[in-house]
Amino acid sequence: MNKSRVPLIAGNWKMFHGGASGIDLAAEVARIAGRLAGVECVIAPPFTALAAVAQTVAELAEQTGSAPIGVAAQNFYPEEKGAFTGEVSAPMLVEAGCRWVIVGHSERRQLFAETDAFVAKKAKVALENKLHPIVCVGETLEERGAGATLDVVLRQVNAAMDALLAGKGAAVVAYEPVWAIGTGKVATPADAQEVQSAIRRAIAERDAALAEKIRILYGGSVKADNAAGLLGQPDVDGALVGGASLDAAGFGTILRAAAELSSRASSA
Ligand code: PGA
Repeated sequence: MNKSRVPLIAGNWKMFHGGASGIDLAAEVARIAGRLAGVECVIAPPFTALAAVAQTVAELAEQTGSAPIGVAAQNFYPEEKGAFTGEVSAPMLVEAGCRWVIVGHSERRQLFAETDAFVAKKAKVALENKLHPIVCVGETLEERGAGATLDVVLRQVNAAMDALLAGKGAAVVAYEPVWAIGTGKVATPADAQEVQSAIRRAIAERDAALAEKIRILYGGSVKADNAAGLLGQPDVDGALVGGASLDAAGFGTILRAAAELSSRASSA
């Protein structure tokens, strides 16, 4: 964490809580986040819950006088409208109350064959629609074993570089080593720092001011008990949390860890 960047904690609900339980979870998270300063919170429910969740968090924010937490989609299709059966466009997400969208999650790259070029296009189109893209990058276990971690991650970052530059800080990068997602095998804080500082250096080669400003999250088995160690690293500006975001209390502990580190960083 660095005092010049507000930490961002994002919860990726994946294919869970698409109905009433999602609204309850969103309300609990919004109540916790509303009491914390110095940390930004985003939740990414399934499409079916987006509009209702966005409405719920907006109403809660109005009642409590706090800023609403952000609502993200987990995916979208980068065309405005048309004959794309089953797809959802960026303007539709905005209409549903989203301000964020995850792009290039490894599950989409692996299970739905999304390429670097397609992910870059999504990041660009998201920004054109005033959505903040969370651009996910990360190596597989095999790639790490072959010593190719930085090659793979920087290839993915460079593919989206034009969008990151155009976003001027509105886009966020999430480093998610594929072997750490949903496995309970978290990267060490030092591993995360090594890759995330390399990502920041790659951005600095193109735009030094943006590199200072842009937030780079870590994702992959982040839990209440390992979050503080990861968030304590200078180039870890937050977390993209999967499994542990499905429980408001556990997610709240991660939010509190970020808020505490952020207040310590700003008073240092
Ligand atoms: P996990 O998922 O926290 O369950 O490992 C992270 C993600 O997929 O974004």
